[in-house]
Amino acid sequence: MRLVPVWALRPGMEVAKKVTFGNNSLLLNAGVKLQMEYIQQLKKLNIRAIYVHDQLIPDVEIEDVILDQTREKAVKLVQAALTGMRDDSSSNYCRLLNIKEELYDVLDDIVGQLLSANNLVLNLADIRHTDNYTFSHSVNVAVLSIMTSISMGLKKSQLKDIGMGAFLHDLGKVVVPLSILNKPGRLTEDEMAEMMKHPLYGLELVKARHIFNGPSLSIIYKHHERINGKGYPRGLQESEMEIYPKICAVSDVYDALVSDRPYRPGFKPHRAMEIMEEEAEGFDLEIMQKFYHNVSAYPIGTFVGLNDGYIGVVVKNVHGHPTRPQVRIICRKDDFEPLKHFEVNLLDDLKVVVDRVYEDNEIPSYIYFREPS
Ligand SMILES: [Fe+2]
Repeated sequence: MRLVPVWALRPGMEVAKKVTFGNNSLLLNAGVKLQMEYIQQLKKLNIRAIYVHDQLIPDVEIEDVILDQTREKAVKLVQAALTGMRDDSSSNYCRLLNIKEELYDVLDDIVGQLLSANNLVLNLADIRHTDNYTFSHSVNVAVLSIMTSISMGLKKSQLKDIGMGAFLHDLGKVVVPLSILNKPGRLTEDEMAEMMKHPLYGLELVKARHIFNGPSLSIIYKHHERINGKGYPRGLQESEMEIYPKICAVSDVYDALVSDRPYRPGFKPHRAMEIMEEEAEGFDLEIMQKFYHNVSAYPIGTFVGLNDGYIGVVVKNVHGHPTRPQVRIICRKDDFEPLKHFEVNLLDDLKVVVDRVYEDNEIPSYIYFREPS
């Protein structure tokens, strides 16, 4: 299976992972053959890419690092927690206490799944819709932060603390008007100033409700601070930041960069990593290194050009080696003539490196898709 941009989809391609939108409504189930009207509908809903089976890597599945149902449950609970924090009635207080318990239960599941599956690499991009961006982003920041924390050797109780803080890190955004949050264009100076208050709004909400105190507080308040003092809202110095917000800061920026936003499509992971390198002095070096162990610059299904003249598609990534995937060679760079497939493992031959990433429209479609007869 491969993540294919919606503009490159063709009728006859088979959906490989179910596509949902908004509040988890099912749009397309796995196994459905695409028709033109389905593709139009995806475009209308602004969904930019979906997973389909194609001829290049029909044998390769892309598994999420946690179970689909665990992720779905977490997104729903985070949504209930974040939106529920606006209501200060006493009946809502009891509801939020229940949600808190359920969030800890789902964190138990996430931590358990991540601890039991050793050496995972995040290859899967979850397909998000603008409406639930904040909630699915929060869950992904939690997953990435827990993975980083496991690589750093943190204790199980700490994994749950950081997961809860990551779930809630953007809590303050529930106070920011949707017209600013989902604005398709650049924010004005005033709108940006309002957006940058969300750590403060989040802190005020938590303090007022007395429900999610404890370690979550520092993540909510400090996830946009940077160790070089150039973060916000206060421009704190490194000594004023705990390890939790430092870990969440890295996951938060990475996940925001690779996500589609109303004002730009998501960056490919290798590009997101380059952008993060440019900002590296704001992040803790050890945390960044551990973070990179768990993600891949070239997720499964990416078209990569190699410095030995071949183009291939990534079929496997190895934990700890984000830039050295296993690649199935499909054609030569100079003539795009299809080749009998063979595989190279970039960990075995260190002279071979990825020297560029190809977009779907740069690879002739006859290489990866045969029209149904
Ligand atoms: Fe934030």
